[in-house]
Amino acid sequence: MENNLLGLQAEAFSDGANRGARYLQQIGLRKVNAELARLSQLDPGLPEEGMDVTSVLDLMDSIGGEGTVGSAGGRYFGYVIGGALPAASAARALLSAWDQVADELTGPSVLEMEKVALAWIVDLLELPKGTSGAFTTGATMANMTLLVTARDTLLSRLGHPRGAGLIGAPGLRIVASAEIHATVLKSVRMAGLSTNDIEWVEVDDQGRLCLDQVPELDDRTLVLSQAGNVCSGAVDPIQGLAQKCKEAGAWLHVDGAFGLWARLAEPLSQKFAGLEMADSWVVDSHKTLNTPYDAGIALCRHPEEMQASMAIGASYLPATKPGPSDRAPEFSRSARGAETWAALLSLGRKGVSDLVTGFHRHAVRIARELRALGFDVPHEIHFNQVFATLPGKEDACARIAADVQASGEAWFGPAVWQGRKGFRISVSNWTTADSDVDRLIAAIAAAKEH
Ligand SMILES: Cc1ncc(COP(=O)(O)O)c(C=O)c1O
Repeated sequence: MENNLLGLQAEAFSDGANRGARYLQQIGLRKVNAELARLSQLDPGLPEEGMDVTSVLDLMDSIGGEGTVGSAGGRYFGYVIGGALPAASAARALLSAWDQVADELTGPSVLEMEKVALAWIVDLLELPKGTSGAFTTGATMANMTLLVTARDTLLSRLGHPRGAGLIGAPGLRIVASAEIHATVLKSVRMAGLSTNDIEWVEVDDQGRLCLDQVPELDDRTLVLSQAGNVCSGAVDPIQGLAQKCKEAGAWLHVDGAFGLWARLAEPLSQKFAGLEMADSWVVDSHKTLNTPYDAGIALCRHPEEMQASMAIGASYLPATKPGPSDRAPEFSRSARGAETWAALLSLGRKGVSDLVTGFHRHAVRIARELRALGFDVPHEIHFNQVFATLPGKEDACARIAADVQASGEAWFGPAVWQGRKGFRISVSNWTTADSDVDRLIAAIAAAKEH
């Protein structure tokens, strides 16, 4: 009986994997936008008696499949979604069969893969020895984890112990780039801190925090900076900031959700000088590194502080070495870091460098071609992001983005940056080829003339 059930599961698993393979083989031929007309068929009513697995997969594959956005393919340029590298998505399939909880007793081999992947990332990003952290669901949770750690560490240095709560705690200051990502602000709120009292620091015309506008810092201050502005890709002047933080005893946090990987692109690496002097860093696997959703990484140069904030214990738990649940918010968690391990192993150091250098190369070309079409790209190409607007016709930009989306040729969205209306293109899929960029540019040119 048992073998029979497992045999059925194996059969269903192969069916799902084969359908996934077919989807990927055809993604270049389909429109990038999702087909929504038949989505209501996904609710056939909850059956009293369950459906057989093949019928479930048929429904998912047909109606669900056509309702997907083609972000796994090379003509998706929206947000910074990224695709999934072959080794990473195959690892996802294997992991889903293993169904491990990443901890010492419940998933020793996947825990090892996570540990190894974290160490490789620390090495690749040239972060200080001893830096460690945890895989989270994404950069938002990684930011939240580290802001809680920073909050607790600053407060305990001021004599307010962990666990004492925020009522009656000494006030902390937050100094942040005016263009810090919205999810960092959400993380500030989730950490129980005030966004109303943030001391904002102006940015320059590239979206970089202006160092000379940073207020006097002290040991009650948490400084929020970013490596990778969502519109321009720009990196804050981290070295100068880190020096100021060090002198004042302030905590420097760097949100590098997609941008931190650019450190591995030879022409871009000097922008990251001083990165190793920060206290905490966030980077995603699921964006630039092209692992499947969802995987972010919280890294801290004071892992003992991260552990002091996140550790968990219960009478029924055996005394094991501290694991991911002692450094991340979740208790039970998937082994998402194993996909990152597979991605990094399949790419190698050179592969990661080639990947990010390729994104930059495409972005440089896109900016050049857009300028030739009469668009203004008001920033240097710092990495993979391109913001463009049409001088004198800014309102047309949202319509151009909508037309390109509707054509199914490519996908990117409208945006407003530094008071200007435009659209934003992000290169973050490992499969994006020159021919995909040709089609993107042709679609924009056609939409502009429309
Ligand atoms: C700079 C930056 N920080 C944080 C985030 C949030 O990342 P996630 O969606 O992985 O939570 C994003 C997402 O686009 C981002 O671009």
